[in-house]
Amino acid sequence: MKQLQVGLEERAYPILIKEGLLSEIGQELKQRQIAKRYIIIADDQVAELFGGHVVESLRNVDIPVDLLTFPHGEGSKNLSTVAKLTSSLAQLGVDRQDALIALGGGVTGDITGFLAAIYMRGISFVQVPTTLLAQVDSSVGGKTGVDIPEGKNLVGCFYQPKCVFIDSAVLKELPAEELLNGLAEVVKYGVIYDGDFFNFLVAHQKNILRLEPAVIEAVVAHCCTIKAQVVVADEREADLRRILNYGHTLGHAVEAASDFTIAHGMAVSIGMVAVNTIAVKKSLLSPEKAQRIKDVLQGFGLPVEIPADLDRRQMKEFLKTDKKSVGGKPFFVLPVQIGKVIISDDVEDIMIEEALA
Ligand code: GLY
Repeated sequence: MKQLQVGLEERAYPILIKEGLLSEIGQELKQRQIAKRYIIIADDQVAELFGGHVVESLRNVDIPVDLLTFPHGEGSKNLSTVAKLTSSLAQLGVDRQDALIALGGGVTGDITGFLAAIYMRGISFVQVPTTLLAQVDSSVGGKTGVDIPEGKNLVGCFYQPKCVFIDSAVLKELPAEELLNGLAEVVKYGVIYDGDFFNFLVAHQKNILRLEPAVIEAVVAHCCTIKAQVVVADEREADLRRILNYGHTLGHAVEAASDFTIAHGMAVSIGMVAVNTIAVKKSLLSPEKAQRIKDVLQGFGLPVEIPADLDRRQMKEFLKTDKKSVGGKPFFVLPVQIGKVIISDDVEDIMIEEALA
């Protein structure tokens, strides 16, 4: 088992990574004594796939456990789902001695973290991410929240889990598209933080796509190590943590303009390639390095071009209203080499238009 630590002092927590960990969660929770009783929160699909496994693992060591579900999909990530779940928790008599288990992808992690933060003014929760994207990104760092009609993730808070349990074996159950979604974030870490890791990804592309256990575990552990370092340095995204948004500013505009038919990871892949053209135009990044990044994304089978039918004007509007824009000015994470980025809001409109073209 690989064990990492998110060193946030009194809110520090471990990340455990092991193939088959899902069936050992009960023992791990018993040892760690986080709570007396657990409520698993999962969407209907994940509950069907893995819920029984986790319930059994807790029951095997005599930990009381219940399972609550909600309909799968981003459409459930709203205040109404949270309200329904708060009522279910109250009806089950859940109190502050108890804890939640977020079993699923990013939507489940975000909803459950938020629910844990507000129920009885805060109860403990643990993350059990079951998608690659959630394993390498959203389950670590304590971002929780839901969407409202006015925008994604506009309501939420920073609230750290007590532990993250990552079972790499669950990735074999994912549809190919879901794996690709996560791979875009994996490449992101190489570009923003670690050129050697980027080279590792290039060298092991086939092994990663074949989900070879040792390579996948190494990749997930490395991404979590980087994420943990960034979060420890800047938990509330005042400065360094913003580098995790590489490709996301333009990516969010692509996602929104496609009416969310383009998944997050795919949009981030397109966004990384698009923002690299700005970095090249500003003479920050060489065209050869931009091409290497594009090649690795394409090698994984990720999209790298903004679909021709997306409305460019609408995307520019989305950039202005992006929740991370300040005074209508979006910021961009621009690579200066593979493994190092800068953050800039000094990008002329013409460059943005060229990137969108
Ligand atoms: N997913 C970006 C962050 O956690 O800051």
